[in-house]
Amino acid sequence: MKILLAYDSLSGNTKMVADEVEAELKKAQHDVTSFRVHPDAQYPLETDYDLFILGAWTADLGRTPPDMKDFIAELGTKPPHVAIFGTGETQWSMAYFCGAVDRMAKYFDSQYPTLKIEQMPHTERDHTAIQDWVAQILSMREGVVK
Ligand SMILES: Cc1cc2nc3c(=O)[nH]c(=O)nc-3n(C[C@H](O)[C@H](O)[C@H](O)COP(=O)(O)O)c2cc1C
Repeated sequence: MKILLAYDSLSGNTKMVADEVEAELKKAQHDVTSFRVHPDAQYPLETDYDLFILGAWTADLGRTPPDMKDFIAELGTKPPHVAIFGTGETQWSMAYFCGAVDRMAKYFDSQYPTLKIEQMPHTERDHTAIQDWVAQILSMREGVVK
């Protein structure tokens, strides 16, 4: 499948997750276009991607960070297959933990499970969660269109 993986990462935590997600996708032989969103970027959005994977850190009180919001605006029409992941910190309270993930999943009306990582992937449990999540979203997408 052709997969677009776009992520917003201020201090590198979400990039670490994105890198692991990308490695899993490539291990499964998928064609991945991956980038960190940036206000000055020209995004490669001409391709018909089979699956969009968007990742973001969470900004103030559960909000989606501005660069990811801008990228989403550039997407224009909402793609039908969007899976969302992100990093956050529970110290901001469970109500706001990874709030951007919830907001984006709601915006895209995503049917895929979300992945939320506390700060950065640093435990075996985190790495397994990432691998399992990628396997799950791929099998869901592949189940829709062979
Ligand atoms: C100004 C600011 C506000 C934040 N607000 C939240 C929040 O509401 N909920 C949350 O889960 N994390 C919040 N965080 C924590 C970051 O989302 C978290 O550290 C994330 O892993 C950073 O990812 P990055 O290294 O990819 O930028 C906030 C961080 C900053 C700097």
